[in-house]
Amino acid sequence: MTSNLSPIDKAKFVAAKRAVDYVEDGMKVGLGTGSTAAWMVKCLGEMVRDEGLKITGVATSSRTADLAAQVGVPTVTLDQAKWLDLTIDGADEYDANLNLIKGGGGALLMEKIVATASDQMIVVADLSKQVDTLGAFPLPIELIPFGWQTTKALIEETLVNLDVLGRSSGLRMNNDTPFITDEGNYILDLHLRRIGNARQLSLVLNQIPGVVENGLFIDICDVVVIGNGDGSVEVRDINNGTVEHEQIDVVETDNLFVDIAD
Ligand code: 5RP
Repeated sequence: MTSNLSPIDKAKFVAAKRAVDYVEDGMKVGLGTGSTAAWMVKCLGEMVRDEGLKITGVATSSRTADLAAQVGVPTVTLDQAKWLDLTIDGADEYDANLNLIKGGGGALLMEKIVATASDQMIVVADLSKQVDTLGAFPLPIELIPFGWQTTKALIEETLVNLDVLGRSSGLRMNNDTPFITDEGNYILDLHLRRIGNARQLSLVLNQIPGVVENGLFIDICDVVVIGNGDGSVEVRDINNGTVEHEQIDVVETDNLFVDIAD
């Protein structure tokens, strides 16, 4: 059955499978969004069902909340949970300092609020997300719909004085209409190509009226679990300075591998 998974899905799965080792009975866990995070939610569902794991999840999107309900992971709102032990989420890019670009799935606002309200953030990814310098992946910005074209113009003007290579941006679309986030906002994708100073950019962007949040996660991520298509994983812990390598056994159970959601 293992051969049914493509190498990229296997990489995502083993990253998720290793990351859920961090989850302990009684924990409050932030549940990320995206195809890699979906594997993690499914793994947790299996642990709840088969091992009697008792956890409380907080979903970072309506998509993830639906998946959690499907696989039996109980969820509450962040206000009910108040503070979380850990959040496990995917990323679009990570650098050597575990600074991230997130928001490819349009959930960056809830993802950032949830990750920031957690003692620890663990990112699950494959090697394709690793970069020397952030910025090849378009940086998502969540915008208030009111006056969004003015906000876009202000952002592009602001970028003139910042250490980036590109300045063009595009409103994210869903067929013919703007993509709408769970919070009712728009997403503007900035094609910066290279971000020289991510911390400064993040601070400056969030000063612009109309900008709700940006997809740069600076000093938020503690651990990245990188999965590979051969079933091996690398676990990098930025706080301990440790790097560990392991091989994950992939046993495809019926429950885990049907209807893979992202
Ligand atoms: C959603 C995200 C995702 O975590 C990110 O886009 C990675 O997704 P995937 O695991 O599908 O590549 O930030 O807003």
